[in-house]
Amino acid sequence: MRSDISLPFSIAAAFLLAKVAAECTQFSTNSSTAARYNFYRFYDARNLYNSSKKSAVSESSAQSKTFSTVPWSTGWDARSSFKPAFTAQTLDMQYTPAGVFIRNNTQASQDFSTYISLYTTRLPNGTQQTAALDYAEYNVTHASIRILARVRGASGAVAGFFTYHNDTTESDIEMLTRDPSTQVRYSNQPTEDPQTNEPISGSTFNVSLASQRSTSDWNVHRLDWVQGRSVWYVNDAQAASSEVNVPDTASRITLNLWSNGGNFSGEMGIGDEAWFDVQWIALFFNVTSSPDPQGGGTVCSAEFTPGTSKPPSDQ
Ligand SMILES: *[C@@H]1O[C@H](CO)[C@@H](O)[C@H](O)[C@H]1NC(C)=O
Ligand SMILES: *[C@@H]1O[C@H](CO)[C@@H](O)[C@H](O)[C@H]1NC(C)=O
Ligand SMILES: *[C@@H]1O[C@H](CO)[C@@H](O)[C@H](O)[C@H]1NC(C)=O
Ligand SMILES: *[C@@H]1O[C@H](CO)[C@@H](O)[C@H](O)[C@H]1NC(C)=O
Ligand SMILES: *[C@@H]1O[C@H](CO)[C@@H](O)[C@H](O)[C@H]1NC(C)=O
Ligand SMILES: *[C@@H]1O[C@H](CO)[C@@H](O)[C@H](O)[C@H]1NC(C)=O
Ligand SMILES: *[C@@H]1O[C@H](CO)[C@@H](O)[C@H](O)[C@H]1NC(C)=O
Ligand SMILES: *[C@@H]1O[C@H](CO)[C@@H](O)[C@H](O)[C@H]1NC(C)=O
Ligand SMILES: *[C@@H]1O[C@H](CO)[C@@H](O)[C@H](O)[C@H]1NC(C)=O
Repeated sequence: MRSDISLPFSIAAAFLLAKVAAECTQFSTNSSTAARYNFYRFYDARNLYNSSKKSAVSESSAQSKTFSTVPWSTGWDARSSFKPAFTAQTLDMQYTPAGVFIRNNTQASQDFSTYISLYTTRLPNGTQQTAALDYAEYNVTHASIRILARVRGASGAVAGFFTYHNDTTESDIEMLTRDPSTQVRYSNQPTEDPQTNEPISGSTFNVSLASQRSTSDWNVHRLDWVQGRSVWYVNDAQAASSEVNVPDTASRITLNLWSNGGNFSGEMGIGDEAWFDVQWIALFFNVTSSPDPQGGGTVCSAEFTPGTSKPPSDQ
């Protein structure tokens, strides 16, 4: 089956798309972080109310699954927890599953009728209501994580898509509503020396989106975490690369929208709101106990699977 991937482009693409999940045992990426991954998950929120599909999980095998259902019922936990303010200058945060929901697309589009939304607001009593989805099926050792998303709303919120082991073993994509709308931040934590608070060179980057795009447009944001290297991409173009503080421990993948009123996030006014909207999430990854495919395994190109398309043109 290995020879399938050397078919001419158009035949191979159609062929692999048709049978991607069932028979692939590894997924290869091909950019500057080219690698192979043993697992693939695709969470598709674009047409959640379409009733034609009998099952929400299609083309399923242990290593590869495609979901057309809400992620929090299929491998992700919508976080429910209280995080008290860590200084007198910051705010309590209340993570609530009610802040993660399905929305109907009201823009004319052939591509999608629904998406999921993470929501944050500053409550009348001053607490910040926040939202997070934690990937619960596996912790990952290396990964290529991709999301078609946009961020909008009042200044003071942080939308994050990241790997997390602890506060010093963490690799982030972050979009801040107080930043210019063209800006994305990438970081391998820690970004400051814990003793001196001096910035750690090469651990964090501010990047401007190309060609007048905004973080409030739908863009494909991607982080590749491989041995000794983190590379970030927007819409298939490499945006930053780092070999500093690259995580080396199994980590959870999380998607969140928060504010604690502190210097990093900024502070929302009472009643202010922001949204982190998501059409799909694609995860290619290894886990601590990755199976080593025996002879006969099929390596498929990650770049042909759902979740690697360019963003739709904006309406
Ligand atoms: C990655 O693979 C896709 C599909 O074959 C191709 O279109 C693209 O040009 C490749 N990119 C690189 C950097 O090789
Ligand atoms: C799902 O429904 C929407 C509108 O209801 C439609 O535009 C879209 O083509 C459908 N998608 C699929 C995959 O059936
Ligand atoms: C979203 O669309 C679905 C299916 O078309 C419909 O049942 C539902 O009421 C809509 N929800 C809202 C909030 O408009
Ligand atoms: C603030 O209001 C929220 C929502 O009603 C509630 O869950 C939370 O406990 C309140 N916090 C305080 C400090 O009263
Ligand atoms: C992932 O790691 C966290 C933190 O160590 C742990 O609590 C959790 O059980 C792990 N999850 C899985 C699926 O291994
Ligand atoms: C985070 O985890 C790494 C790897 O296990 C460990 O070396 C480091 O001490 C931890 N950092 C903190 C702040 O706990
Ligand atoms: C990114 O931008 C923020 C806000 O302008 C600034 O405080 C921070 O130092 C910048 N980071 C880098 C690495 O340039
Ligand atoms: C936030 O910024 C202010 C003003 O620059 C500074 O005094 C304060 O120490 C900072 N707070 C934290 C938690 O870094
Ligand atoms: C994932 O694991 C396979 C072996 O199971 C290995 O060949 C591959 O290099 C690993 N990928 C990364 C990015 O570490």
